[in-house]
Amino acid sequence: MLVALDGPAGAGKSSLARALQRRRGFRLVGTGSLYRAVAAMALEQGIALEDEPALASLARGLRFALVGEPGEERLEVDGRPEGAWLRGEMVASATSQVSALPEVRAALLATQRRLAREAAHAVLEGRDIGTVVLPDADLKVYVTADVGVRAQRRLAQGEDTQRSLAEIEAAIAERDLRDEGRAVAPLTRAADARLLDTSGLSEEEAIATLLAWVDEVMV
Ligand code: DC
Repeated sequence: MLVALDGPAGAGKSSLARALQRRRGFRLVGTGSLYRAVAAMALEQGIALEDEPALASLARGLRFALVGEPGEERLEVDGRPEGAWLRGEMVASATSQVSALPEVRAALLATQRRLAREAAHAVLEGRDIGTVVLPDADLKVYVTADVGVRAQRRLAQGEDTQRSLAEIEAAIAERDLRDEGRAVAPLTRAADARLLDTSGLSEEEAIATLLAWVDEVMV
């Protein structure tokens, strides 16, 4: 069974995907990490974020693998475990630019499909999973939440200690616009995706909704 989870940053996709991994044994593919890896490596290697051919070539050359026990799998990029080097606002901002480039997206498409189909059950979390990567997914969910709610969650996570709530909110809104406005694979809800608005829901309530949908589709 293949589950596609799409939606903007901070809507709750990761925690939903992790719940499917831990409680139902699904393979979890956080596709944002693939784009983040390309951006982080480009920054490290001094590749310009406008140099589409060089970035696509970088993306094609990276080896992505999910390693570890099922339910606990972690992403490795060229043998390097996912970690702090993929996070941070610098990498996030570079990723938003890099992920707008069609050649980079094309370079990562086959990898995402391979990682999905290697497992019996997989959940892919991203922006264009239901529309582009897995248009034939068994269950598509578009996860969303109000910008204010997403900014507050981010602040509560303690990842953004330098900025005010208003600044975080503005940054999120700007990133949404860029992700929704790009020409290739813009952030958009697939026509056959179910909508999960987590604004008024606790984490457990959102998870319960998703698990009920998964169980419904699986039988
Ligand atoms: O989900 P995330 O925050 O790790 O995503 C990081 C960036 O990558 C974000 O700007 C959107 C982009 N992205 C994308 O364009 N397509 C995906 N399938 C996943 C992420």
